[in-house]
Amino acid sequence: MEASFDATGEVLVVTGGANGIGAALAHAYADAGGTAVVFDVTSGQPHPGGRVREHLVDVSDRDAVRAATARVLAEHGRIDALVAGAAVQPRCDVVDMDPEQWRRTLAVNLDGVVWCAQAVLPDMIARRSGTILVFASGLATAGRAQASAYAASKGALIAFAKSLAAEVAEHRIRVNTVFPGVVDTPQFRQANPAGGEREHWERATGIGTPADVVGPLMFLLSPAATMTGSTLTRDRAYPRSETK
Ligand SMILES: NC(=O)c1ccc[n+]([C@@H]2O[C@H](COP(=O)([O-])OP(=O)(O)OC[C@H]3O[C@@H](n4cnc5c(N)ncnc54)[C@H](O)[C@@H]3O)[C@@H](O)[C@H]2O)c1
Repeated sequence: MEASFDATGEVLVVTGGANGIGAALAHAYADAGGTAVVFDVTSGQPHPGGRVREHLVDVSDRDAVRAATARVLAEHGRIDALVAGAAVQPRCDVVDMDPEQWRRTLAVNLDGVVWCAQAVLPDMIARRSGTILVFASGLATAGRAQASAYAASKGALIAFAKSLAAEVAEHRIRVNTVFPGVVDTPQFRQANPAGGEREHWERATGIGTPADVVGPLMFLLSPAATMTGSTLTRDRAYPRSETK
């Protein structure tokens, strides 16, 4: 994506940034002059300018998140933004749900966001500046068979973000929620096998690419987005190539 936002000198922590939407954002942020630090359990693509850094972190592990955040602050001196994208989306009927799978989904998708927010907030509060984005999902409101754990985690995140926004408003920190729309990523492909389900989404909403979501995310990270406690919904969209 062309750099239409300026992130020069700023630092973003993006969880789940080795793949999909988070990876596209990390690279766009670096292209815009910032440094993106990825917290993920796997590695992504290097950035030509070297401004996408990686830490192997399981976001459900609060101590690991704290240690990685401390390393980011020691190396870069500040964290301007947190984009909490790490998530898993297992498919399972409730009647067959293994307690471990239920707990793991909530531990990554919900607890992971809480631990990351908790880790980055002291620096943001001290500087009276910062922005946090969390990802909801249309499945949180529409529901879907075999997606109860994922949908429940995303519904809880919507409520969490609203409350956190209220809590940190006095420190001039913004917290917003994004519904990114239907986007072709590793997680989307795993949760929507080829055939009928993907064709359904193609007809219902269109299927975007990670690059299609970067503009809305960069806007929310920029000072132009004065909103907090708000939701940006990308319900239905045209690919960027069709909007020129
Ligand atoms: N793709 C879509 O259509 C869509 C729709 C609605 C919401 N979302 C949300 O957008 C966000 C990004 O999704 P995506 O589609 O790009 O997914 P993705 O699968 O491409 O990326 C998710 C990343 O999270 C990482 N991850 C998984 N468990 C982790 C853990 N414990 N600790 C750290 N990292 C971990 C994975 O390794 C992966 O790199 C997610 O929160 C997802 O729920 C996506």
